[in-house]
Amino acid sequence: MKPYAERTHEEMRDVLMSPLADGPQAHYYMVRGGDKKSNITVWEAGTVGAEYIKSYGHYHTGDLEETYTILQGEGIIILQGQIEDEGVTDFKAIKVKAGDKIHIPKNTGHLAINIGTTWLVTSDDSPASLAAHADYSLFKKMRGAAYYVVEKDGKPSFVKNPLYGNVPDVRIE
Ligand SMILES: [Fe+2]
Repeated sequence: MKPYAERTHEEMRDVLMSPLADGPQAHYYMVRGGDKKSNITVWEAGTVGAEYIKSYGHYHTGDLEETYTILQGEGIIILQGQIEDEGVTDFKAIKVKAGDKIHIPKNTGHLAINIGTTWLVTSDDSPASLAAHADYSLFKKMRGAAYYVVEKDGKPSFVKNPLYGNVPDVRIE
């Protein structure tokens, strides 16, 4: 398996609040070493439209859990419960900075957002075969998570994704 991959702007249009907005050629870069060497992800800084640069987001198939360590920068990790009847049971936004560790429980949709001015860099312990465990289809169908994180007056702000019906308020940690 080639260890390096990038997620392009064209691919990210599926899940952007403003899919027609301009953005960098790639939004983030991945070096994959699996659970032995760890995986490194690097996000561009900035916004696409008003929305901060983020990862695509996925659920895991099976009972896979993972742990992210923040190596550099400032971010928000989104944890979203299962999607049922176009709604979600829980929506959590965790502010993170270098040194923090975040556990992703099973059956939880997740993505990371760069809200800082430098690269956001994480390492994680997902298996090298993550492609077989990651389900991107729900975020694709719903055009992202239940809320988009946008820059408003220089700060993160949450905008509900209109494709979702009943969603709880954002829980910020
Ligand atoms: Fe994951």
